[in-house]
Amino acid sequence: MNGNITLTIIKPDATGKGLAGKIIDHILQAGFRIKAMKMVYMDERTAGGFYAVHRERPFFQDLVKFMTSGPCIPMVLEKDDAVADFRKLIGATNPAQAEEGTIRKLYAESIERNAIHGSDSDENALREAHYFFSDMEIF
Ligand code: CMP
Repeated sequence: MNGNITLTIIKPDATGKGLAGKIIDHILQAGFRIKAMKMVYMDERTAGGFYAVHRERPFFQDLVKFMTSGPCIPMVLEKDDAVADFRKLIGATNPAQAEEGTIRKLYAESIERNAIHGSDSDENALREAHYFFSDMEIF
């Protein structure tokens, strides 16, 4: 059975342009429920830890720099098939390849400054949710 939570982060490009409200409304209109939400300013250690799986990738340092450049809004979202449905809602990692109407197509600038994160598996959704929130906040 597919899980019913996913973890998203509204990234600094989107918060910096005042797009958080529009993006949150888009998410709610699509039927997701916000179980937990906060605004955070990540330091290099926190951002690097979140993206540790990409540590060896050429874009890692730039990604960490970008994610520490302004406020982020992590949220735990709930819906049936949350991971797959949310990835459909946000569109491809590179907004140039994202489908019309997706959050990244509407609001992202580039593959790095791509407005929003979405977990890629149920296992990662749980791990990522616990990266920002306690059990009590999630369940
Ligand atoms: P996200 O879904 O948050 O997961 C990993 C992030 O790394 C991704 O969004 C992008 O912001 C970034 N990323 C992935 N591939 C590249 C790339 N080729 N160049 C720059 N950034 C990338």
